[in-house]
Amino acid sequence: MHFSLAALAVGLQLPAALAGGDDQKQVGTSLGQRESGNSAVDGKKPNIVFVLTDDQDLHMQSLDYLPLIKKHLIDNGTLYKRHYCTTAICCPSRVSLWTGKLAHNTNVTDVNPPYGGYPKFVSQGLNEAYLPMWLQQAGYDTYYTGKLFNAHNVDNYNAPFPAGWNGSDFLVDPYTYMYLNASFQRNQDPPVSYEGQYLGDVLAQKALGFLDDATANAHSRPFFLGIAPVAPHSNVNATPISNATTPDPDELGAAFGPPIPAARHADLFQNVSVPRTPNFNPSFATGASWVRNLQPHTQENLAFNDHFYRQRLRALQSVDELVADVVERLAQHGLLENTYIFYTSDNGFHIGQHRLQPGKECGFEEDINVPLIVRGPGVPKGKVAEVVTSHVDLAPTLLRIAGVDLEGRDDLDGEAVPLTEGELNKAENGTRHEHVTVEFWGMAISEGKVFREDEKRWAANNTYKALRIIGGQYNFYYAVWCSNEHEFYDLTTDPYQLSNLLDASATPPTTLLGVPFEKFTARLDALLLVLKSCKGQTCVQPWQALHPAGNVQNLQDALSSRFDAFYEDQQKKVSFDRCELGYLVDAEGPQFEKDGLVYREGVKWSEWV
Ligand SMILES: *[C@@H]1O[C@H](CO)[C@@H](O)[C@H](O)[C@H]1NC(C)=O
Ligand SMILES: *[C@@H]1O[C@H](CO)[C@@H](O)[C@H](O)[C@H]1NC(C)=O
Ligand SMILES: *[C@@H]1O[C@H](CO)[C@@H](O)[C@H](O)[C@H]1NC(C)=O
Ligand SMILES: *[C@@H]1O[C@H](CO)[C@@H](O)[C@H](O)[C@H]1NC(C)=O
Ligand SMILES: *[C@@H]1O[C@H](CO)[C@@H](O)[C@H](O)[C@H]1NC(C)=O
Ligand SMILES: *[C@@H]1O[C@H](CO)[C@@H](O)[C@H](O)[C@H]1NC(C)=O
Ligand SMILES: *[C@@H]1O[C@H](CO)[C@@H](O)[C@H](O)[C@H]1NC(C)=O
Ligand SMILES: *[C@@H]1O[C@H](CO)[C@@H](O)[C@H](O)[C@H]1NC(C)=O
Repeated sequence: MHFSLAALAVGLQLPAALAGGDDQKQVGTSLGQRESGNSAVDGKKPNIVFVLTDDQDLHMQSLDYLPLIKKHLIDNGTLYKRHYCTTAICCPSRVSLWTGKLAHNTNVTDVNPPYGGYPKFVSQGLNEAYLPMWLQQAGYDTYYTGKLFNAHNVDNYNAPFPAGWNGSDFLVDPYTYMYLNASFQRNQDPPVSYEGQYLGDVLAQKALGFLDDATANAHSRPFFLGIAPVAPHSNVNATPISNATTPDPDELGAAFGPPIPAARHADLFQNVSVPRTPNFNPSFATGASWVRNLQPHTQENLAFNDHFYRQRLRALQSVDELVADVVERLAQHGLLENTYIFYTSDNGFHIGQHRLQPGKECGFEEDINVPLIVRGPGVPKGKVAEVVTSHVDLAPTLLRIAGVDLEGRDDLDGEAVPLTEGELNKAENGTRHEHVTVEFWGMAISEGKVFREDEKRWAANNTYKALRIIGGQYNFYYAVWCSNEHEFYDLTTDPYQLSNLLDASATPPTTLLGVPFEKFTARLDALLLVLKSCKGQTCVQPWQALHPAGNVQNLQDALSSRFDAFYEDQQKKVSFDRCELGYLVDAEGPQFEKDGLVYREGVKWSEWV
């Protein structure tokens, strides 16, 4: 069954695809529409089920191949087509998601120590201050199964145990991504191997088991259930990487391969291939930094990558079934009406766009713009929302559902996602932030195969700060790399990000939004200077930091010519001193807090606060 998300097609080609699953699942309860996003049925706080896939794309049309997710979530809920992750790699992204903080405020910026992974999450004190703890304090029972963080492994799983869970059954490294040899670690027990069993099916049973546990207690307490499948992440062979804390990137790259589907899905989608969008394996170089030097893919490479793509869609079928099973079980317990179901991915994925091998870690739309679907009390059915949302908005969203008062909380870098028709209308009429903070530190790994002798399995210096900004009349991406290269795309005219208007060889437009191009980019740069080190409310309302009088709310306001000198001549520019693998402040050039200006007779930020 094929469908196309017409409203999603921001210039994207939809493939002539068919999906294999059929709608055999019967569900008893129908949904009642509710007015408020945090209202409760019978005075009881709503339950929350949160499905977090791994590396699922929005831009390679994976949602088109998931008929049960379409039926139960997209048709019964709202798809947020402008939802973004803030750091396009698993562990930093998951930490941001579960803490509500940008990676520069968690300093978990990598998948492994010393800059990331579970040990870094613990040493940053975040195991005492993240969502499950807050939800328990709000009266919720909390459950989780699947992958929590990287480098949470068979040796450190109890040092300490992840806090905040009433029931947990985590996938643990180095076996997390072995689809046929997973290890799970339940509650306080030692890890158990599931050699030979299909990971997706083991996970589904565990998820449904926790749902039963949760509902057994549901007469007294509402629950949160996190379900984190591995699909459609690459299969990663544990053998060469053992449990080394800092794996060799060549070894790591070689350990990756296409994901493995369940046997019943292995023959689906024989004729499907990666959508040949204009940015797919282009005949000319695109992007900045190392991306610009990539060579076109050979025919053999293209064939392998199409196979990789099909394996992703096949592996996702078990997630499609899981979602239907969860909905059915909720209905059986009579809880479907009073349960929010969230569905998203930690980050996106690219295959072949900009000549990239399968992987993530880039700032392109394929990597940062991810699926977010919400179904639940008061959430419009079958709607595609245009509001700009990001992963750091999700912790505030869940806390608001749980009835937690967010007023005056300065530890969250996001703003709750509007859930009801009324909230969505209000937000789409311009009362919500229009930007996303994007940041990355370290390397980019190629998860496919190497087909050319001169090709490497990884790229160094993949460190950049970026922002996405989308308003009524504009749609831009702006980035500064640690090499001090600049990148800028006008996605209204260039939705596939083929023309970097800040490349040395580019001919930039004379004017943009009615102002000279240099004056325009000066505004974006100042905004990025604020966002790259923002904390709390400043991350939500960055213009307020530049214009504390409150007279500038968005990019359009900031373009006023009376601010020309302030932005163009006075403000420090975003730049790096060198490339580092982690968040070392002294490598990151001017900081808004000490070097930036606020528009109040040119008073320094440090003097103003
Ligand atoms: C919504 O979900 C229910 C149960 O989950 C399902 O029976 C129905 O077909 C779905 N679609 C719509 C449009 O309601
Ligand atoms: C879940 O854990 C919280 C915090 O420890 C506790 O207060 C609550 O009673 C637990 N729920 C159940 C059902 O045990
Ligand atoms: C499967 O995982 C177990 C540990 O859980 C390990 O001992 C075994 O070597 C693994 N098998 C393969 C084929 O990787
Ligand atoms: C992981 O490394 C530790 C030492 O760092 C070692 O004691 C342990 O046996 C290793 N585990 C595996 C599964 O290789
Ligand atoms: C795949 O394509 C071939 C040739 O275009 C066609 O003969 C075949 O029927 C297609 N298979 C499916 C399952 O669509
Ligand atoms: C937002 O705009 C839409 C369409 O222009 C309008 O129908 C709606 O009433 C507006 N909502 C608010 C809260 O202003
Ligand atoms: C990475 O950047 C550093 C400067 O920060 C430079 O010395 C080094 O040559 C760069 N490496 C590559 C592979 O470009
Ligand atoms: C982030 O962590 C690294 C590694 O521990 C440390 O060197 C760095 O100073 C930290 N950065 C900040 C801003 O705290």
